[in-house]
Amino acid sequence: MALQNLMPEGIKNEVIIGSRSRETADEAAKQAISELENFGFDTSKITITGNTNLEAAQAAEMIILTIRFDYVLPLLDEIREALENKILVTPVVPMTKEGNLFIYKPPAEGSAALAIQKKVPQSTKVVAAFHNVPAAKLKDVVKCTDVYDTIICSDDAEAKKFVMELARNMGCLKPLDGGPLKQANTVESLTPLLVNLAKLNGLKDLGISCY
Ligand SMILES: NC(=O)c1ccc[n+]([C@@H]2O[C@H](COP(=O)([O-])OP(=O)(O)OC[C@H]3O[C@@H](n4cnc5c(N)ncnc54)[C@H](OP(=O)(O)O)[C@@H]3O)[C@@H](O)[C@H]2O)c1
Repeated sequence: MALQNLMPEGIKNEVIIGSRSRETADEAAKQAISELENFGFDTSKITITGNTNLEAAQAAEMIILTIRFDYVLPLLDEIREALENKILVTPVVPMTKEGNLFIYKPPAEGSAALAIQKKVPQSTKVVAAFHNVPAAKLKDVVKCTDVYDTIICSDDAEAKKFVMELARNMGCLKPLDGGPLKQANTVESLTPLLVNLAKLNGLKDLGISCY
């Protein structure tokens, strides 16, 4: 099997996994390549490497923030200079557990997306995406044939279009334009709802599909 082009036209098919530790990142990169090969993919056309968060952000053309909200703002301070003029994608959902269930707990700015935008350079194009897609499903690149919707919000039309194309290229996602970044709170808040619905109804890995 050939691995399809993940990136939109003209962008290198290259992934750099960031971590607080270069060793952890290296290990994660090796594991990702090996999982793809075990699935039978030809990995000759994609490069996956690991690096520290700062060096990964410096080398990247687009950055996806895949850490919990509690740690996001301090990390943005560390990598701030590397974010100039780049697309920064946030799937980050600020939520806490109350008893058995999760509740959406946005910061004073109204959403993680708006708090992130406030923290980064003005030239950074913040795009909110992938909040309602269960990671376990995405990881299974062969079985991930269900089409989940992913609602994408940004104030930058070109950056939004780019991330929508990236989502389309991922194989099992259908991107939907969710409007400007200030709408991201409505999308973020769906994630604790989906997690709670799964728990209360004995279901797993719920996502959304609008049509
Ligand atoms: N999991 C899902 O299904 C899902 C779905 C939608 C959205 N999201 C969002 O995606 C983000 C990541 O979720 P996740 O489930 O992947 O989180 P996670 O497994 O808890 O953590 C992801 C990474 O965060 C790093 N990390 C841990 N503590 C840190 C710290 N103090 N400072 C900086 N980095 C730290 C760790 O990497 P290193 O140890 O290598 O540094 C860890 O591998 C969250 O914001 C979540 O809301 C997740």
